[in-house]
Amino acid sequence: MIVNKPPMGWNSWNTFAKDINEELILKTADVFIESGLKDAGYEYVVIDDIWALKERDEKGRLVPDPEKFPHGMKYIADYIHSKGLKFGMYSCAGYYTCAGYPGSFDYEWIDAATFAEWEIDFLKYDFCFHPTCINADVLYKRMALALANCGRDILFSACSWGAENTRHWIKETGAHMWRSTQDIFDSWESIKTLALKEAPLQEYNGRGCFNDMDMLVVGMYGKGNVGLTGCTDVEYRTHFSLWAMLNSPLMIGCDIRNMSDAAKAILTNKEVIAINQDPLCAQPFYINNTKWEINTERKPEDPFYKNLPDEVLLMAKYLDGGDIALGIFNFSDGKASRWHQAVLPDLLGLPAISGKVLEATELWSGETIRSRCGVLDIPDTEPHDCKLYRVKVVG
Ligand code: GAL
Repeated sequence: MIVNKPPMGWNSWNTFAKDINEELILKTADVFIESGLKDAGYEYVVIDDIWALKERDEKGRLVPDPEKFPHGMKYIADYIHSKGLKFGMYSCAGYYTCAGYPGSFDYEWIDAATFAEWEIDFLKYDFCFHPTCINADVLYKRMALALANCGRDILFSACSWGAENTRHWIKETGAHMWRSTQDIFDSWESIKTLALKEAPLQEYNGRGCFNDMDMLVVGMYGKGNVGLTGCTDVEYRTHFSLWAMLNSPLMIGCDIRNMSDAAKAILTNKEVIAINQDPLCAQPFYINNTKWEINTERKPEDPFYKNLPDEVLLMAKYLDGGDIALGIFNFSDGKASRWHQAVLPDLLGLPAISGKVLEATELWSGETIRSRCGVLDIPDTEPHDCKLYRVKVVG
């Protein structure tokens, strides 16, 4: 099985943790259709930890908790498939899952066969309580090989949080995505931390095996299992734009049955999703757009620059067909001004001698700007806000 684009879907953990059941999952599948999420590209409905009984059955098979899932998992798979969606489940490379339910260690082949029998399409595979005498790569290879031989295409989503240098061996396993960062929490600090940790890991990301920055917190507003303080809609928009630029899987984590209009608009912005799902899956790069490069007359210590925020990340990514995605991310608590954010076309690979200019359309506001006198002048960006442009070379 080959995965060519960052997977998109929903996962139960961020909001529901242990409070999952058949009714919730079936209703969530319905909402995928009703709310336009399926049309926007979301596909996988994934049940995370705490779905099983604490004991396996007499044949060593995992048993869905009958109180939560009275008709079993094949029933859920059939329902989800009947909606044209795909079904995901969760297990762990250790003796136990992170919440203390049976893990798949030494049961890999039994579990892969069981998952295939239930007709799942996606397996998230965690890393808690694993034996320390076996290398992490071997633990993931064990399940990868069992899945590859189970007779069904099952997307393998490795979740070892980047531990034990996951980036160096994860592609050996054939995994289709791998958690490159720690767990997300519903706070601006968490979003910022994950994005900045992810930034230098992009050389490991790419088509076939995507760096997974964890499930989205868009629309949680502090509710649920990873609640914390919650974020503003502006921060959620920045969060979604970052995940889109960094080619991360887009797995929704809020309760989509009760989505705010703002959260829905963020999660279904088709132009932003297209930046994430671009077929080229090119590696994003950072524009070394320091203040003194923009105006050589002024030095960083010039009072002009005093109070200008330092934490403004400028990121670009080539798109299939010749366009360029350009993201301006204001991580600071101050306004980012045009001087902070001006983009020299040369840094995007467009020399002045080409006689061409850049035409950039911002994908949240629809506003279009053009480069003039050799600079793409970006309007001010508010604290924690971002701008995400699709840039065309014109003229
Ligand atoms: C963590 C994982 C979370 C969630 C949780 C379940 O290790 O990173 O995303 O799956 O386990 O217990």
